[in-house]
Amino acid sequence: MTIQGLIDRLGGLAFGGDYNPEQWDEPVWQEDDELMRRAKVNLATVGVFSWALLEPEEGCYDFAWLDAHLDRLHANGVAVDLATPTASPPPWFTLVHPDALPVTADGTTLVHGSRDTYCLAAPAYRSAASRIAAALAQRYGDHPAVALWHVHNEYATLCWCEHTAVAFRRWLRARHGSLDALNDAWGTAFWSQHYTGWAQVLPPRATQWHKNPGQALDFRRFWSDEVLAAFREQRDVIRDHSDRPVTTNLMVPGYQNLDLWAIAREVDLVAIDHYPDAPGPGAAADTAFGADRARSFARGRPWLLMEQGTNTVYAGDRTLGKEPGEILRHSLGHIARGSEGALFFQWRQSRAGAEQWHSAMVPHAGPDSRIFREVTALGEVVAGLGELAGSTVAARVAVLHDPDAWWALDGDGLPSPDHGYHAILRRAHRTLWEAGVTADFAHPEDDLSRYPLVLAPALFLIPDAGAVNLRRYVADGGTLLVQHFSGVVDERLHARLGGYPAAPLREALGIRVEEHRPLRRSERITLSDGSHATAWSESVRAEGAETLAAYTGGMLEDSPALTRHRFGAGRGWYLSTTLEDPDYAALIARLLAETGVDPERPELPSGVEAVTRHAPDGRRWLFLLNHGTEAVPVPEPAHDLLTGGRVDELAPGGCAVLRLPEAA
Ligand code: GLA
Repeated sequence: MTIQGLIDRLGGLAFGGDYNPEQWDEPVWQEDDELMRRAKVNLATVGVFSWALLEPEEGCYDFAWLDAHLDRLHANGVAVDLATPTASPPPWFTLVHPDALPVTADGTTLVHGSRDTYCLAAPAYRSAASRIAAALAQRYGDHPAVALWHVHNEYATLCWCEHTAVAFRRWLRARHGSLDALNDAWGTAFWSQHYTGWAQVLPPRATQWHKNPGQALDFRRFWSDEVLAAFREQRDVIRDHSDRPVTTNLMVPGYQNLDLWAIAREVDLVAIDHYPDAPGPGAAADTAFGADRARSFARGRPWLLMEQGTNTVYAGDRTLGKEPGEILRHSLGHIARGSEGALFFQWRQSRAGAEQWHSAMVPHAGPDSRIFREVTALGEVVAGLGELAGSTVAARVAVLHDPDAWWALDGDGLPSPDHGYHAILRRAHRTLWEAGVTADFAHPEDDLSRYPLVLAPALFLIPDAGAVNLRRYVADGGTLLVQHFSGVVDERLHARLGGYPAAPLREALGIRVEEHRPLRRSERITLSDGSHATAWSESVRAEGAETLAAYTGGMLEDSPALTRHRFGAGRGWYLSTTLEDPDYAALIARLLAETGVDPERPELPSGVEAVTRHAPDGRRWLFLLNHGTEAVPVPEPAHDLLTGGRVDELAPGGCAVLRLPEAA
């Protein structure tokens, strides 16, 4: 079944969540049926953690209970996203395959008692996972309830065991070809790290001081490829028995043990889980960040919010509740940016077990609760948005994201601890979000020509091909902002010699960086244009670029901090320090103005999110989400799908989905 098949099957957008009926009994199942109808649930993810029940001992399956639940859901009009349970091997697995347990970097073997207690590179785990996936696919490949396959759950856990070492060496041989090439790539001439036999090469386990950065980066790349291989194995056995689309739920934004561009190419449907990590406007900005990343990884294909919490905001050391109305606003925040629905973890809050305090669609308090009332209201809303299915969002600004650059910036021995890749990327995205501009993420080697403006906020590592691509983008008329400490190493983490960044970027930017000069903690500097910066400075020489702001005082007095270079038909901008928020926002506003990228709805105040979904046939819908505390007039009064009427004003916290006149 194609994704269009799934959309047709659901009759619109998806609404529902993880459903774990094995935690309950008959009277509750009956109530579930009734409540799911009331909430207009049309998709339930079943079986994510059911391995122990499905295969109580190795090779012996018990499907009777699952048969009954799938039949019941089907009879109730709920389609099933059927999971393979391979993220949580049963306790017997520990005893039968002790060699397949995960080992931490410091040598501790982890055993069952939680979840994810397996080494993805262990042959015994891989064949056990493929076997259970095949058994499920054989039995349920044509089951009328099954609309989607959900392989595993949030692939992410790492392992440093002996199986990993063997697989890592195999991967390294394929990548580097010879030990000489590996020694060269990893710079093992330093610190007596030279390898004379493959058996000496290990995963980056706990060691005395800084790890070898090349080894650490290759390990991340290897692991990502290992995840892809494990996913493909399950996907392919499922495809042998079923024509329904296959997905896996990816953890965005901050959790990154795999190359999300690569895995997105392997799935039939990109699906993400998203739990905001800040309350209030932070949660809304984080929602937009996660959703824009998902849409970008999906490369314009439909994608799906597979999990969120009804009342869960992970704020550091505690879980905060959402404010009334946020269940709707966060869900619409995802749908606005292209999600084909809104699903949750989980349907019914667990009475016992490790996640008994995680929020759910039916809370412990039962259906007579604020949460269930909001869930039911949301179900009604999602059911009314069916005409949007298959439409997407077009952005005019791209933020460059490269997992290699992320992993490389996670390494040891960098000049300062202020290089949190994720935080830098989010700041760039949030600044655009606050300016009312929707952004895509793009890979540095993508065709970027459709974007008038591209931001490269944290491109520490860039291969030659990426640097050449960015130079071409500027030469052909694009505007590129490169930020400090970018383009300084190649794909082997070797420093660019002769001045940073990589030569093609130096040409496009018209500058040459001679020195990195991290600032002291809490040091604040003032630039010649009055703006303020922290954390980082660089000794930059203009080689053709005009200086828009210079450093003041100290040895960098008068040297360029912010530059702009006319190159070919475009402009290359370079920012060599970390501007404070208002000054960074002013810079982004200036770039948007120079490139003619307007906010989606310039007349709306900050805090009111506006995003348009477009269908290929010209139909358009404007999402308006008022995260602020003031009522605002609707910029283009039109038929609102949420109220079924015309709206002129958005109350504080209010939302609207307006059917706009069709585009010509
Ligand atoms: C993730 C997992 C779920 C659940 C939720 C809530 O998204 O996929 O199984 O653990 O988090 O914590």
